[in-house]
Amino acid sequence: MNDLSPHPATSPLAHEVERRRTFAIISHPDAGKTTLTEKLLLFGGAIQLAGQVKAKADRRNTRSDWMSIERERGISVVTSVMTFEHGGLVFNLLDTPGHEDFSEDTYRTLTAVDSAVMVIDAAKGIEARTRKLFEVCRLRDIPIITFINKMDREGRDPFELLDEIEKTLALATVPMTWPIGRGRDFAGTYDFAARHVRLVDRDEDAVPMAADDVAGIARIAPRLDAAATAEELSLVQEACGDFNLRAFREGHLTPVFFGSAIKNFGVGDLLKGLGDHAPAPRDQAASSRVVHATEDRLSAFVFKIQANMDPNHRDRIAFARLCSGKLTRGMRVKLMRTGKSMSLNAPQFFFAQDRALAEEAYAGDVVGIPNHGALRIGDTLTENEDITFLGVPSFAPEILRRVRLPDAMKAKKLKDALQDLAEEGVVQSFRPRDGSPALVGVVGALQLDVLQNRLEAEYGLEIRFEPSEFALARWISAENRADLDKFVAANAFSIADDLDGDPVFMAKSAFDLRYRGEQAPAIRFADIKDVK
Ligand code: G4P
Repeated sequence: MNDLSPHPATSPLAHEVERRRTFAIISHPDAGKTTLTEKLLLFGGAIQLAGQVKAKADRRNTRSDWMSIERERGISVVTSVMTFEHGGLVFNLLDTPGHEDFSEDTYRTLTAVDSAVMVIDAAKGIEARTRKLFEVCRLRDIPIITFINKMDREGRDPFELLDEIEKTLALATVPMTWPIGRGRDFAGTYDFAARHVRLVDRDEDAVPMAADDVAGIARIAPRLDAAATAEELSLVQEACGDFNLRAFREGHLTPVFFGSAIKNFGVGDLLKGLGDHAPAPRDQAASSRVVHATEDRLSAFVFKIQANMDPNHRDRIAFARLCSGKLTRGMRVKLMRTGKSMSLNAPQFFFAQDRALAEEAYAGDVVGIPNHGALRIGDTLTENEDITFLGVPSFAPEILRRVRLPDAMKAKKLKDALQDLAEEGVVQSFRPRDGSPALVGVVGALQLDVLQNRLEAEYGLEIRFEPSEFALARWISAENRADLDKFVAANAFSIADDLDGDPVFMAKSAFDLRYRGEQAPAIRFADIKDVK
C-alpha cells in the first residue's frame, strides 16, 4: 500500500482493491499502442494472447469478429478488456479503439479507468488524437504516465519532447529514465531512482552506475561520447525535479519513461511505474455521496454496450466497471434507473478475444453482463442502495449527417430505431426543431457504417447519409431560462433536441460557433454533457 492510499487497511476488501490497476493507453494512431499492449501482456504471462492483439489480418477468422463490418475490414469494433497479473498486482487494461474504429467508446472507456499511459512517437511528439484523449483524461483528473516510444529510431531531442508536453498539455514532466544515445546509437536508459543503466540488448540485467560515471558509460556504450553523456545525465537529474506522487495523482505531473515497444525495451520499467505509482481503484462520485472502493456492498456503472457479440442470439453485453464491494456470480443487484433487480448469472471476464465466467470480481474490475436491452450506458448497479454514479458523459460529435429514408412510410420505425441505437450509444441522434430529417452525430466515421449496417440488419431499414449543413453540435444552457429561450427563438433553424430532449445548437463552422457565442454571452456552449 503506498502512502497516498485512501483505503483503510482494516477493510476486508482492501487487499484485493489495493492490488488492482485499471488503466488505458492513449495515443495517436501508429505511435505503438498495439505493440505496447502486446508487450505488456507478455509481461503478464498472457503470451497466448499477445500475438492475437497484433494479428490484424488473422482477425477475420477469430471470434472477436462479431459483426460483418469487422469481417469486411479486418478491424475490431470491440473495446476489449485485458486482465493480467504481474508481481502480485492485477492489471486491467481497457483497450481504447483507435484508427478507423475510433468512436465515442474510446472516450467513454476513459471514464472507467484510474490512470492512463500516454504513448508518444519519439519522432512525432504530441499529435492530435493524443491531445484530445488527454483532454478527456484531464477532465476526469486521471493521472497520466508517459511512454516515449520508438527510441530505437531517429527521433526528436528528448528535451524538446518534454518541453512540448509541458507547453501543449500544461503538464509538468519528470523523466524517470533517460535515453543513452539516440536512434542507431541508442544503447539503453538510465534510471535515476534506481541509479542503474538498462541496456537495449540485455533488458533483464541492469548495470548499477552513478549518473556522472564517465568510465562506466564508456564501458557500456563505447560508441558514445561518454563525457558528454554523463554530463547530460547529471544535467537532467539536476534540472528535472523529483517525482512527486501527489502532483501525479492530481494530474499535474507526468512521470516519463523512454523505450522501444517493438524491442520490448523499457516496458518492464513502465509496468513497474504503473504498479508503484498509479492509483488503485479510486473513490467514485455518486449522486448522494462518494463511494469508496473498499466498501462491502457492490456498486458498478455501465460504460459500454456491445451488441451482436453472438449473432445467433442477438445478445448484448454491457461492460460494467465495479466501483466497490465484491461481485459473486449469481448475486442479485438493483438497476437504479428502473428500480428493478436483476441476477448476475453469467458475468464475464474478457481476455482480448477469450471470455470466461467471472466467479468473483472487485472494484476496478470490468465485467461483461449479458442482457437483452435492460442495461444502458451510464446505468448504475448496486446492492440495493439508492445511489447513481455521475459521469459517463456524452461527447460532442465530430461528424454530423442527415439520415435520408427513401421509404417515407417507415419514418416512425426509423425514429424508434434511432432512439434505440442512440440509447445503446452507437450514435447520437438529434431531432431538429424545424422538422427537417434527423441528424446523427459520431466521433468516428466507422460508427456511421455500424449504424447503417444495423438499421438494415435489425430493423429492415435502408437509409442513406447525406452531408449536413452543420459541422458542430454544442449543448446549450444559461443561468437564466429566459436567455436560453431567447437564443433558441432567435436561432430556430439551428436548434435540435438530443436523446434526452436537451437543446443543442448546431453550428455551420467553428467561425459560426464563435460568432454566435460572442453575440450571446449569456449562453454556455458545452462540448461534453455529463449524465445527470
Ligand atoms: P498503434 O496501435 O498505436 O496504431 O501502433 P502499432 O503498435 O500498430 O505500431 C505502428 C507501427 O509502428 C508498426 O509498424 C509497429 O511495428 C511500429 N512500432 C511500434 N513500436 C515501435 C518501436 O518501438 N520502434 C519502431 N521502430 N517501430 C515501432 P508498421 O510497419 O506500421 O506495422 P507492422 O508491419 O510492423 O505490423
